[in-house]
Amino acid sequence: MSDVEFTVKFRHRLRFTHNCFDPANGALLELLEPSQENTPASVQVFLDENLARCHPNLQSNIERFADIHAGRMKLAGQVICIKGGEELKSGWSQLEPILKLLDRARLCRHSYAIAIGGGAVLDTVGLAASLFHRGVRLIRIASTTLSQADSGVGVKNGINAFGKKNALGIFTCPWAVINDEGLLSTLSEEDWRSGFAEVVKIALLKDAGLFAEIESRADQIAQRNIEDAIPFIRQSAQMHFDHIVHGEDPFELRHSRPLDFGHWAAHKLEKMSDFKLRHGEAVALGIALDVTYAKRMALLQEEACQRVVGCLNALGFTLNHPLLRESDELLSGLEEFREHLGGPLTVPMVRDIGAMTEIHDIDTSMMREVIEQFFFDRGVMNKPVSAGQLS
Ligand SMILES: NC(=O)c1ccc[n+]([C@@H]2O[C@H](COP(=O)([O-])OP(=O)(O)OC[C@H]3O[C@@H](n4cnc5c(N)ncnc54)[C@H](O)[C@@H]3O)[C@@H](O)[C@H]2O)c1
Ligand SMILES: [Zn+2]
Repeated sequence: MSDVEFTVKFRHRLRFTHNCFDPANGALLELLEPSQENTPASVQVFLDENLARCHPNLQSNIERFADIHAGRMKLAGQVICIKGGEELKSGWSQLEPILKLLDRARLCRHSYAIAIGGGAVLDTVGLAASLFHRGVRLIRIASTTLSQADSGVGVKNGINAFGKKNALGIFTCPWAVINDEGLLSTLSEEDWRSGFAEVVKIALLKDAGLFAEIESRADQIAQRNIEDAIPFIRQSAQMHFDHIVHGEDPFELRHSRPLDFGHWAAHKLEKMSDFKLRHGEAVALGIALDVTYAKRMALLQEEACQRVVGCLNALGFTLNHPLLRESDELLSGLEEFREHLGGPLTVPMVRDIGAMTEIHDIDTSMMREVIEQFFFDRGVMNKPVSAGQLS
């Protein structure tokens, strides 16, 4: 009998840049290692269709970039535009065409699949890339605030199935992540806002000073002042990155998912809304519910709770979605959250701004009161529900 522990080393690479397909920009080239000496790296590019529509020159810029740098990289197949958004993650059928394209491009394990887009494209192409040949190198070029602030640096790739968020997926470290800040200007107002829910989340868990800064710049962020906003996105990406590389449990083998504060409700609300509610919008709601619950259970001071709800409101999030009427269904998200990870229920929580903790028991009657308070209490309902958020 043998019983041996062993470790596998990964290298996580994160780059911040502007217009990475400008021929003079070296961010991508510097990451490509050829599979054999004096041969260009073989690359298959997948591009988020909505991103391509908003940046009509992007596809030709990628082709031109590859031409100019033909000694360093070679497009293994045409640049493929794939449908962006959560629908792409809806089950197995969307994955298969991507796998076929990887096969058609004759990629090997030393070749690169490059996914350019929002979190949904990064997740789905990432899953396909990690299945093909049991894993080809994946470069994620993140193009939304959410994927730049959070999901891009994650070591997960998941798609939705069986009525559950991210029910199928894999843990693996991407070859590299590039946050191309030049792409953010074309996001819709809702998608722009969405990523800041994750910035607020990481600040609440780890950095009271960062939260205070977000609070003080919330109006500028809501008005899409890019110079004000970019440093927050960068800091959030770096904090998520640091948590993964130094947190000692990147593949979530233990009982807790510390970065998933507010996510038990968020994942359930996304599903209940048939994914009309964006991930970031649902996270904002989930955070608001959890801090209000923490206040009710005397875990968190009232003033801290008010600051969090006030900040989310100032960023423009709506915190009174009609789905909160379905409190029983929403509460079933707690068990689904537990089941996804296994072991005892472990819900990330905050005991102060910037001070994370975990709780293992939720008083469901108290949580139900909190949910109903959010739906009925006009104090939280400072804004009408936007059409995009209606289920
Ligand atoms: N893998 C992980 O670790 C992880 C972590 C957090 C979230 N996620 C996942 O990420 C997804 C959410 O990502 P998201 O918020 O980026 O949403 P998204 O991918 O749905 O993108 C939002 C919309 O913006 C479009 N788009 C992308 N870039 C654009 C641009 N620059 N200009 C204009 N339109 C653009 C997309 O096509 C889409 O319609 C969820 O599925 C969530 O579960 C994954
Ligand atoms: Zn999230």
